[in-house]
Amino acid sequence: MESGPIGIFDSGYGGLTIYQEIVRQLPQYDYIYLGDNARVPYGNRSFEVINEYTKDAIEFLFEKGCRLVILACNTASAKALRSYQQIHLPKVKGLHKVLGVIRPTTEIIGSLSTTKKIGVFATQGTVSSGSYEIEIKKFTPEAEVFQQACPLWVPLIENQETDSDGARYFVKKYVDELMAKSDQIDSIILGCTHFPLLKDLIEEYLPPGVQVYEQGQFVAESLTNYLVRHPEVEERCSKNGNQQFLTTETAENFDQQATLFLGHPVVSQKVHL
Ligand code: DGL
Repeated sequence: MESGPIGIFDSGYGGLTIYQEIVRQLPQYDYIYLGDNARVPYGNRSFEVINEYTKDAIEFLFEKGCRLVILACNTASAKALRSYQQIHLPKVKGLHKVLGVIRPTTEIIGSLSTTKKIGVFATQGTVSSGSYEIEIKKFTPEAEVFQQACPLWVPLIENQETDSDGARYFVKKYVDELMAKSDQIDSIILGCTHFPLLKDLIEEYLPPGVQVYEQGQFVAESLTNYLVRHPEVEERCSKNGNQQFLTTETAENFDQQATLFLGHPVVSQKVHL
């Protein structure tokens, strides 16, 4: 039976926060990480464009042999996952699966909140899709969800400005705007895979007692369970512990950033989608 690496896709570097946790929990598999760094950010783009870019990326990874692709991007998961699964995936030959990052997070967050007042920081695209509110309420109907779009956080992160005065200004601004919506919020999801890079700063501006949750661990645990429940997918995931990094921007930029980010040398290749 043909098997291939697990594909992990994001618009840029942010998906490395998910990649890192998945590889930590499931080191035996082969992985291809694809960052569409040339077209980041996706967060402010239209449904149509995000659908098109996400489809390009998924099918590129299928061509590279991946049978399972994780959209390590909330914007793509919110705006393009369902339509890809319903419209395009049935036309792809052979068993292929695509999973997102919103479901694993929304399944668990209700059980972590005491007040059931849940905050979400995300891109404009994810917020306007309403996906977090819809999905959280499926699992925790009594929850109230307060969303805050943070359109300037991804550009700050992609441009390595996380320690700057500008980052402080925009972190405080969006934290204050979210907390002004309800002072009973006790749990906040970082609903964009880039945002863990600003977590320390976000916590500095939050009132004490408010917990901030990254998605990496939730996604990795959910993937582990998925592979146990779906042996037909698991046996198509190759297991040599190899990791490959692909980017649509220059490899040098990616290598420098990803090496800093992951704490080990990364050698990527530039690709065209
Ligand atoms: N990291 C992505 C997310 O989780 C999107 C960032 C962007 O391209 O705007 O939403």
